[in-house]
Amino acid sequence: MAGQILGWDHLEWWVGNARAVTAWLTSGFGFRVVAYAGPETGVADRASYVLALGDVRFVVTAGLGPDGEVARHVLRHGDGIRHLAWRVADVAEAAHAAAAKGATVVAEPRVVNGDEGSVATAAIATYGETRHLFVDRSDWHGVWGPGFTDERLPPPPAGPPVGLTAIDHVVGNVEEGRLDDWVDFYIGVLGFSEMRHFDASQISTRYSALRSTVVHNGAGVVMPINEPAPGLRKSQIDEYLEANRGPGVQHVALATGDIVSAVGAMRGRGVRFLQMPAAYYEDARERVAGFDLPWGDLQRLDVEVDVDSGGYLLQIFTETIADRPTLFLEIIEREGATGFGEGNFKALFEAIEREQARRGNL
Ligand code: FE2
Repeated sequence: MAGQILGWDHLEWWVGNARAVTAWLTSGFGFRVVAYAGPETGVADRASYVLALGDVRFVVTAGLGPDGEVARHVLRHGDGIRHLAWRVADVAEAAHAAAAKGATVVAEPRVVNGDEGSVATAAIATYGETRHLFVDRSDWHGVWGPGFTDERLPPPPAGPPVGLTAIDHVVGNVEEGRLDDWVDFYIGVLGFSEMRHFDASQISTRYSALRSTVVHNGAGVVMPINEPAPGLRKSQIDEYLEANRGPGVQHVALATGDIVSAVGAMRGRGVRFLQMPAAYYEDARERVAGFDLPWGDLQRLDVEVDVDSGGYLLQIFTETIADRPTLFLEIIEREGATGFGEGNFKALFEAIEREQARRGNL
């Protein structure tokens, strides 16, 4: 099964106002709009914008009335990510293989034909109301898919270029006690492997704790999953689960080859990131003493640093990006390191807790 998943195809956001979220992702992060579907293209009930930057593809979709599945999803969960879509060689085979191992197929395999070929899709359920989509667009030769156009797209906003290259990892939050079930799902049903596990003792601050396991398919799909653990106060994962009304995607990490340039450009474009205290950099300079890093730039931009046996990584996290404290984005530059910033967990979670406290949720 894992061998059938070739990599990320796209992430589909379900939001209240696709035009506004698209404008923000293009102005802040440098995405380009490459396709659109809506009433003008024969799609009556929703509007979707396809955004591209490097190999990252986001589809941003809003419902056009109060009764559809998109509007209902947004009412319950707020703006967030609904579909985690993977490219597969054979959609029907992938869906049947997953179903045979116990996955719930929520959209049977189907082939949608258009003027320029066909696209095959199927969907299975994962945590919360999140779905994995299997996609095969190898027989499609037009813009994105049937019903999409590349005419009269919104022009790119002005701003310095942002060099983002790919989806590095996608993180889900699940309820306390459910982490191991979902790890079993990815390993037993979808054929993933466990990459890493972090115990509550490794991911805790004075106030809150979580457990995390990273699963991956060996072909670029890397998915950490978190659950809250008991702590002195409310875990940040609990805050997410309350605000999101259940499990869902917590953050998406986007890779860059030059984080100083990319984050400088994003800051210039108006993106806000979590702030790190000066003491963090005093400690980091000691932890990561073996590498010649642009410390002044990293501190000025609030970029964090971590090191493992393979090398180092640089990472930074946006503030939560919709009105509810749920989804955020990470930018990551890997220079040999394959970890997730374990050395930064405590500093990062304390930064998140400062935001939690400002919301009255700590
Ligand atoms: Fe991450």
